[in-house]
Amino acid sequence: MFIVMEGIDGAGKSTQARLLAEWFRGHGKEVVLTKEPTDTAFGKLIRRLVLTGGREGIIDGARISHEAEALLFAADRAEHVHKLIKPALKAGKVVISDRYFYSSLAYQWARGLDLEWLIDLNKFAIRPDLVILLDLPAKESMKRINGRSIKTEFDKIAELQKKVRENYLKLAEMFSEIRIVNALAPLEDIHNDIVALVEHELLRKG
Ligand SMILES: Nc1ncnc2c1ncn2[C@@H]1O[C@H](COP(=O)(O)OP(=O)(O)O)[C@@H](O)[C@H]1O
Ligand SMILES: [Mg+2]
Repeated sequence: MFIVMEGIDGAGKSTQARLLAEWFRGHGKEVVLTKEPTDTAFGKLIRRLVLTGGREGIIDGARISHEAEALLFAADRAEHVHKLIKPALKAGKVVISDRYFYSSLAYQWARGLDLEWLIDLNKFAIRPDLVILLDLPAKESMKRINGRSIKTEFDKIAELQKKVRENYLKLAEMFSEIRIVNALAPLEDIHNDIVALVEHELLRKG
């Protein structure tokens, strides 16, 4: 089974991915807990060029282009799918990924790229059985991640988070594997909601 956690920063993806992995392990399943960007050379490149917005990500005085950003994420994902996700699934393991191609769609679309192009670019990425969309208002997200981001960029980041959240909700109408979970609830309640969705999916798969 292949499960993905999605949602804006601070929605609880890492927390819930860890809890779900423990739940599966408690049921005797082998679990591979993974994330995007990955820890491979491509993932490290993304952190250096894109996420920190550091000097290395600046070309001719401007940040690297949105297209280059999208291509870097897709390259990292291709390695992730071929080297880790597919082999693990083939070996009968459960794979839980903290972010996947839906993040690229939600964020890069928010940056103004064409959604159809982004979907085409990510066609190689196998569809998960279940995508948990941890839905949280941007305001709450900013409270949770306060300290993680640079204060001077607060408004800019808040505006992006809002748009990305809206995009995720639109994507949930387009991709049937996406299930929306209220991320405002206490984390034990969210975990129980997720387990119920997973059990339902397990029954459906037989
Ligand atoms: N349901 C929740 N209610 C309140 N705080 C939460 C909840 N889930 C996670 N948190 C806290 O919010 C912060 C972000 O959680 P995290 O799992 O790292 O989110 P993400 O991986 O989506 O960015 C952490 O400090 C975490 O302890
Ligand atoms: Mg996280």
